[in-house]
Amino acid sequence: DKGGWSSFMAKEVSEEPEAVANTVRGRVKDGRISIPELEGLDELFLGVDRIVVLACGTAYYAGLVGKYAIEKWSRIPVVVELAHEFRYSDPIVSESTLVISISQSGETMDTLMAVKEAARLGAKTLSICNTQGSTIPRESDAVVYTHAGPEVAVASTKAFVAQITALYLFALHIADVRGSLPDEVSNEAVAQLEALPEKIQWILDNEQERTEQLARWMADTRSVLFLGRHVGYPIALEGALKLKEISYIHAEGFAAGELKHGPIALVEPGQPVFVVVPSPRGSVTMHQKVISNIEEIRARGARVIAIAEQGDSAVLPSADEVLRIPLASPLFEPLLAVVPLHIFAMGLATAKGLDVDQPRNLAKSVTVE
Ligand code: BG6
Repeated sequence: DKGGWSSFMAKEVSEEPEAVANTVRGRVKDGRISIPELEGLDELFLGVDRIVVLACGTAYYAGLVGKYAIEKWSRIPVVVELAHEFRYSDPIVSESTLVISISQSGETMDTLMAVKEAARLGAKTLSICNTQGSTIPRESDAVVYTHAGPEVAVASTKAFVAQITALYLFALHIADVRGSLPDEVSNEAVAQLEALPEKIQWILDNEQERTEQLARWMADTRSVLFLGRHVGYPIALEGALKLKEISYIHAEGFAAGELKHGPIALVEPGQPVFVVVPSPRGSVTMHQKVISNIEEIRARGARVIAIAEQGDSAVLPSADEVLRIPLASPLFEPLLAVVPLHIFAMGLATAKGLDVDQPRNLAKSVTVE
């Protein structure tokens, strides 16, 4: 039931705030992370010296974001791999490796086979999944469910923000178990997580219309590029994936630092480029570098649409359009910056008259390898 929305995707994007809120709910006790599903597993988490995150599609990008938080808070090295690449790579894992799989459906065969292979090789397995009782959690040693609610549209939206939320909760939990995180940092992270739903709602209330209008203006665009740095990089990849999935437009995401190593050759007059701008309150250097990237592509005629936090005045003179997101600590910005990109992809597909829920050639859950 679309509940009055024009598509399941529109409904599911509108549910991004509650997807995050419901994933956090019941997992914070007296300001600390407490995940009932992970009770009794401290020993397992104390023995981990390496984490491998496995997933496909959008879930893989959630994993790429999660890596920054897990490494920052727990100092355990993390690699993120596409499940189908991992499976046939003669992977190196041991009993002290924790394999975290991420899957909305819990049925993606590529991910399932990779998890089984990792378990066969002795790794411990944890699944982040949105579907109760599905196959991947059943095959795993532990599970943290995302509580995004059923997702119907093929292109994943609310599950993506819920997956990042669950990864952050897990990162705080394992850091807490291992004593690697000062209380102030942990408390601040919990506060940031709890503040997210309202901030996402702010974007829906204040920037959705403008983003959709932008999408309508760009309905004839043939190619869109997306740039991001650090946690903004996977968001650029996600923005590009969503656009190709449902609008059938050529779209590519790049790490902003990589621009001069190749992608800048693509920039010609009129080329639309979305740039996820990191907060200047995080790393001043990274912020300046991304602003320089904007200037470089603008000098070559790119049409720059920046996604930047409110009050970032450095962006104004450089970009053609600025989509605003509320202030958040740097690690939490991806959960905000992705929202306008989901809206944009949906707006553009709608402007082209396409069925946003059932894009051609794609299935919601791919149960063959
Ligand atoms: C793809 C879907 O086939 O599978 C994507 O079209 C999804 O939207 C990917 O991200 C992974 O699916 P799941 O269920 O494992 O998260």
